[in-house]
Amino acid sequence: MTESELTVDFHKDAPRQGPGSTEETIRALELTGMANNDDLKIADIGCGTGSHTIVLAQNTEVYIVGVDLFPGFLDKLEHKAKALGLQDRVTTLAKSMDNLPFGNNEFDIIWSEGAIYNMGFEAGVKKWKNYLKPGGYICVSEITWITGSRPGELEDFWMREYPEVARASTKINFLEDNGFTLAGYFYLNQDSWIDNYYKPMEERFSAFLKRHNNSEIAEEIVKEYKSEIAHYQKYKDYFSYGFYIARKDT
Ligand SMILES: C[S@@+](CC[C@H](N)C(=O)[O-])C[C@H]1O[C@@H](n2cnc3c(N)ncnc32)[C@H](O)[C@@H]1O
Repeated sequence: MTESELTVDFHKDAPRQGPGSTEETIRALELTGMANNDDLKIADIGCGTGSHTIVLAQNTEVYIVGVDLFPGFLDKLEHKAKALGLQDRVTTLAKSMDNLPFGNNEFDIIWSEGAIYNMGFEAGVKKWKNYLKPGGYICVSEITWITGSRPGELEDFWMREYPEVARASTKINFLEDNGFTLAGYFYLNQDSWIDNYYKPMEERFSAFLKRHNNSEIAEEIVKEYKSEIAHYQKYKDYFSYGFYIARKDT
């Protein structure tokens, strides 16, 4: 198996593939003021197995297309949607987020939890704006500093990993400079990282390694996630995912 295939295998049965929670998904949805509108179209980009896609479908009457690079994740989302009788309103699309076959003004909401970093916040906002109707909403969670200052080694780490890391004010300014008006902002709480993402991850390590006979790549994947968890535990008071909810002006 390639590293990508192993990564999908590691994550596909997880409750979610990134930090977040049902409550925070609903909180962001409510900030759009659109939760009670019928006949809306949402694109959920980088949805993984769609934990939040399902939450959106269960709390609205809208049509949602879940987009991800990996069909292995989308198969899981399709099964979940079918089991819940949501298959008529939840469809999937296996495509890369930077090259989507969507038309201008096609969607009422562009949703993306913990995934826009794959193409970069600024590139993602600019590109995805085209797919939104005027008055539509972008709802994205994105790595954000939550304190005014932070240890130098932490800054250095994130500047290497993802130089777009910034405070919420920088992200909000960018949204405003690009034709959006902020409708709401909050950052994810620590339980959304630890209880909902990292603890279930730790519980899967040994079965994953056993399933792949402790292959070198499987060992490397586990090592990297253990290091990510240790990093989060050490620095969790300085960063989180910020959830940005913003309306397209025109
Ligand atoms: C951190 S996970 C978050 C998944 C999901 N939103 C969640 O919170 O459970 C990032 C997701 O982005 C997807 N992804 C990575 N690169 C992508 C790309 N170029 N186009 C579409 N999806 C991509 C991954 O497959 C993965 O499902």
